[in-house]
Amino acid sequence: MYLKKLSLINFKNLAQETIAPDEGINCFVGDNGTCKTNIIDAVYYLSMCKSSLPMSDGQCVRHGEQFFVLDGEYVNRDGRHEQVSCSFTRGEKKVFKRNGKAYERLSDHVGLIPAVIVSPSDSMLISDAAEERRRYLNGFISQLDKEYLLAMMHYNAALAERNKLLKISSDEQMLSIYDRQLVSYGSKVHEARGRYVERLAPAVAEYYGLLSGDREKVELRYRSELNETPFADLLAASRGRDIANGFTTSGIHRDDLVFGIGGMPLRKYGSQGQQKSFIIALKLAQYRVILEQSGEKPILLLDDLFDKLDEGRVRELIRLVASDGFGQIFITDCNRERMQRILESAGCPHRIFNVTYGRITE
Ligand SMILES: Nc1ncnc2c1ncn2[C@@H]1O[C@H](COP(=O)(O)OP(=O)(O)OP(=O)(O)O)[C@@H](O)[C@H]1O
Ligand SMILES: [Mg+2]
Repeated sequence: MYLKKLSLINFKNLAQETIAPDEGINCFVGDNGTCKTNIIDAVYYLSMCKSSLPMSDGQCVRHGEQFFVLDGEYVNRDGRHEQVSCSFTRGEKKVFKRNGKAYERLSDHVGLIPAVIVSPSDSMLISDAAEERRRYLNGFISQLDKEYLLAMMHYNAALAERNKLLKISSDEQMLSIYDRQLVSYGSKVHEARGRYVERLAPAVAEYYGLLSGDREKVELRYRSELNETPFADLLAASRGRDIANGFTTSGIHRDDLVFGIGGMPLRKYGSQGQQKSFIIALKLAQYRVILEQSGEKPILLLDDLFDKLDEGRVRELIRLVASDGFGQIFITDCNRERMQRILESAGCPHRIFNVTYGRITE
């Protein structure tokens, strides 16, 4: 899948711009604070129905304006065109349209235009709490599996109800009803997470090896209490504790992804560049799984490519993603000469866009 044309109106600091990206590598180069990340975010938004940053829709509207519009024309692997637009007006619900027809639910759109992003804010995946990693896993699996998204929503609703009950009573019968719901939805989520992480793990190790020149070994594991004990047993065993605490202390809402380097925790023992390389390997593994499952090459968004990487690793990365297995790519960097040098040494065709504050020129 590739983006043939992108139009933006009042999206962040972009007043009105239209670009026609290349099917292959597109670079956006310009100084800090111009609009490079904003362009990447617009492409991400059209795929995922939301910003890749913790920003509300209102915050994405250009200061002083009332609405924004994003419009993308895509071509899929069979050469068929898809037009996707999003319009948001302050105080109203956003509207997503596919080929002119509005979606009833945004979740129906997620997955149509697969996209994978690598950005400096991914460092949260390593430094922050397990919640960030679960959020990542949920976003990834939801692009591929609508059932998962539904199971997740039902689980969260049942969990909220159970916690509400635990705050005010210890009604065993009611608790048992919620337990059955948690087990039913939670087991589905657990099974899917296990399955997808199993597919990601070898690819993460492989891509990390390619990026680092096989200097160190990394591993990815899925940590869940449900790996060892059936969920129903866990809930039964923790009921007393749950009543005492006033919330549910076991379940898939406590799952985590474990990142390791040389058998040690990546957060503690990985250097900044090693951590960044791990994240990139994870995202490329995600790319591969999406491609294998959907048959469409996702759009790859590499924001601030040189963030924490040395030139050698960037060159390896470019060489890797310029190969046949990858499709359209958007890259941002603030140094045009450096970018050009690397792309030319990799010998891959590309298009470079110059970016100034809120403007894009070729
Ligand atoms: N809703 C908005 N209205 C107007 N301007 C906005 C809005 N949201 C963000 N901006 C501005 O857009 C500008 C460009 O931001 P962006 O993150 O795209 O920069 P960048 O080119 O990626 O910079 P860097 O190289 O530092 O990452 C910033 O000055 C930011 O304040
Ligand atoms: Mg940026």
